[in-house]
Amino acid sequence: MKKQQEHNLRPPRHIAIIMDGNGRWAKQRNLPRTAGHAAGAEAFRRTANYCRTLGVEYLTVYAFSTENWKRSAEEVAGIMKLLGAYLREALADMEKNHVRFKFFGDLSRLSPELRKLCEEAERSSGVYHDVQVNFCLNYGGRDEIVKAAQQAARDVAAGLLKPEDLDEARFSGYLYSADVPDPELIIRPSGELRTSNFLLWQSAYSEYVFMDVLWPDFAPEHLDQAIEQYHRRNRRFGGV
Ligand code: IPE
Ligand code: IPE
Ligand code: MG
Repeated sequence: MKKQQEHNLRPPRHIAIIMDGNGRWAKQRNLPRTAGHAAGAEAFRRTANYCRTLGVEYLTVYAFSTENWKRSAEEVAGIMKLLGAYLREALADMEKNHVRFKFFGDLSRLSPELRKLCEEAERSSGVYHDVQVNFCLNYGGRDEIVKAAQQAARDVAAGLLKPEDLDEARFSGYLYSADVPDPELIIRPSGELRTSNFLLWQSAYSEYVFMDVLWPDFAPEHLDQAIEQYHRRNRRFGGV
């Protein structure tokens, strides 16, 4: 908060984060990967709170990708357990935190228990608007686009949509992010320089900030630095 006041920069409305580097953080400490994910969950709590303090309207976080099922059953189970614990806590603290939750991704592959927690969190947090957290779970940018195309095709087949009426704005309405503005800023910690299938459609004109910090070490000062970098960019959107 102090830092933010010092540079006095308005944060973007929508920040998205690829929460990467948990495994390496654990490895550096000779800990199991799951311990890295637990520390990553803490970093998420910290960051979400800070975003709320700054007045960020939307925070979208990549928590589990459609490709992350390739990991060991033990690691996947550990991540799902942490997500369940977080959501139970969030449900209990709802009135204190005033966070609205949305889930982007194909939840049908999650356990019925976890799916129920997601649905419950989405339903009971709908009244809050301090900050909206979009949790990307079993999310893939390509999968999202394919599912949107399937739904548009169904609507055409049902006579609800004419193919020539399907433009960019209409198509956006079929995505998980239907009611959410595109992120101005996407942050990837951990040093990797790729999108890994995150928000492929929505990131068309997002500013990327890649940072060397591992996600469990991500602190408010890193968010401040990313926002500062964002403000130094000249966003032209194809113009001059
Ligand atoms: C991100 O951290 C968490 C998930 C992908 C679920 P990683 O587990 O990918 O950490 P690294 O990249 O192996 O360090
Ligand atoms: C992206 O990180 C997915 C999440 C952070 C949830 P990965 O660790 O899965 O990405 P790659 O494998 O390095 O591209
Ligand atoms: Mg990774």
